[in-house]
Amino acid sequence: MMPIGPLMIEHRLIERMIRQLKDKSQKFNQEKEVDTLFIDKAVDFIMMYADRCHHGKEEDILFRDLAKKQLNPELKKIMDELVNEHSYARNAIKNLVFIKAKYRQGDKTVLPDIVKLMAELAELYPKHIEKEDKYFFLPCMKYFSKEEQAAMLNEFWEFDKKLIHEKYKAIVEGIEK
Ligand SMILES: [Fe+2]
Ligand SMILES: [Fe+2]
Repeated sequence: MMPIGPLMIEHRLIERMIRQLKDKSQKFNQEKEVDTLFIDKAVDFIMMYADRCHHGKEEDILFRDLAKKQLNPELKKIMDELVNEHSYARNAIKNLVFIKAKYRQGDKTVLPDIVKLMAELAELYPKHIEKEDKYFFLPCMKYFSKEEQAAMLNEFWEFDKKLIHEKYKAIVEGIEK
């Protein structure tokens, strides 16, 4: 399997959560009520799975190794856009956490801001994923030998293995503070 195999499989699960995010943003808007438990689940998914696990492998391994190659300017441009989009999503999710806390504390005036952020994320992710799946991943693989691809795939598995330990260690450390 090429290293982009697991990344594309992860895209399919991210798309399913993003579909929920879109549906719920419309529902919250219509009902003028936010299900903060849904937001908690979506935030955990986006922070841990979409950002840490998925963007982590893209940025810390794939993009790191691509940066060492003589990429054609078009691919380099796409890679820079992808990094910017990751960063945009990271900020949007931090804002969502912040605004959701306000809502939970009783400030219902932030409801349109919550709906807007959810809709923005739901808009961004499918386009981002399409860009990677259709225009970036396969051309990138041409820069790596079979051996380099196998080593990358192996590093992906190692990266994934550490995550659950990292997540729960951070939770315990957060409580201990
Ligand atoms: Fe990405
Ligand atoms: Fe991706």
